Amino acid sequence: MHVLKALIVTSTLTFPALGQLDSWAKAAGLKYFGTAVDNPSLNNQAYMKIVRDADEFGQITPANGQKWSNTESGQGRFSYGTGDAIANVPKQTGQLLRCHTLVWYNQLPSWVSSSFSRDQMQRIITSHIQNVAGHYKGQCYAWDVVNEAMEDDGKFRQSPMYKAMGVDYITHSFKTAAQTDPGAKLYYNDFNIERCCNAKINATLVMLKTVIAAGARVDGVGMQGHSRVGKSPSKRELKDTMAAFSQLVDELAYTEIDIRHTKLPTTAADREQQAKDYLEVVGACLETPKCVGITVWDFTDQYSWIPGQYSGEGEACLWDKSLNKKPAYTSVISLLQSAASAGLRKTPAPTAPVSTVPLCCGQGADNHDTIDLISEQPRKLK
Ligand code: G3I
Repeated sequence: MHVLKALIVTSTLTFPALGQLDSWAKAAGLKYFGTAVDNPSLNNQAYMKIVRDADEFGQITPANGQKWSNTESGQGRFSYGTGDAIANVPKQTGQLLRCHTLVWYNQLPSWVSSSFSRDQMQRIITSHIQNVAGHYKGQCYAWDVVNEAMEDDGKFRQSPMYKAMGVDYITHSFKTAAQTDPGAKLYYNDFNIERCCNAKINATLVMLKTVIAAGARVDGVGMQGHSRVGKSPSKRELKDTMAAFSQLVDELAYTEIDIRHTKLPTTAADREQQAKDYLEVVGACLETPKCVGITVWDFTDQYSWIPGQYSGEGEACLWDKSLNKKPAYTSVISLLQSAASAGLRKTPAPTAPVSTVPLCCGQGADNHDTIDLISEQPRKLK
């Protein structure tokens, strides 16, 4: 009976003739498998050939191009050259564009300082979002409206926006984004909110509940997913977190996956472990009905941000520096293929209004070592 059911399900699915990441991800029931792309790599032809292959990547995120320092470096002076250079790629190929990011404490030009009053900051945020999201209106599948608003200990990050407006800056940002580009999915995006359970995840749930209760539309939570080989979260831990977020929003996504080695050069065993770690993330997404897709934070070690930030660490991506696929690529594609053949994914249930804040793994317990996931606080380079 079971076998028969499986045959019936698989016979209604269409499989890609030549399997690559995005085509198999779609066959397995996801919306996309994507990658970040940064401006310096746009003139690398071999790299761009892979980027433009819509069977490999169905979604592109500008790694830096749309950030505040690039789009409004001086107050009211908007420029879209770096953002457009990346956004033009999916325009030509039909890939989805995930837009990143409107309001973030980092890569902020110095004029966005803590000296502004609440009203001034509200006007600054309104203008930034209306202009930038307005410029890209209709192009973005999703916007990371607010990025990294919380600290690892669960407190609000003391950004210039928070100092001026408190949590209202988040509500205001989502409301303004919804008015400006109603067709885009509006995401909250952060790191260290993947492994259930920690103070940051529970604080994020409370923050989202507050913002939604204040009338803002938050469609999705983006879990960045920068982690370390051998210390990455398990599928179980990842699914527990997503179960909690699923109660508040309609979509979840892994938005910036990379899994770095902390010791270089790597051995074959290290690379196998990395392949297993990637599987946990992809498996968690496949087994969570609201998880729509996975984006890697660049696909090749050639352009990964890790070595620039963490000296002596890296090789975090699916392709090596010479654009050869690694064991992690093979394991990810095999899992997507098996998931497609098994036809396991279910249609997500719509989000019902919740009266209480869902807590991840019980009453705010903080039983897992959050240090395993990378904190992006700049670290002293050796
Ligand atoms: O643009 C300047 C260039 O003019 C200068 O010559 C050069 C010298 O170092 O620096 C360039 O700026 C760099 C910028 O990337 C553009 O390449 C910055 O130094 C560098 O710090 C910056 O790093 C980016 C980082 O965000 C900043 O926090 C990474 O490329 C980018 O991949 C990374 O992406 C973030 C996500 O947006 C949010 N989540 C975490 C993720 C990784 O940190």
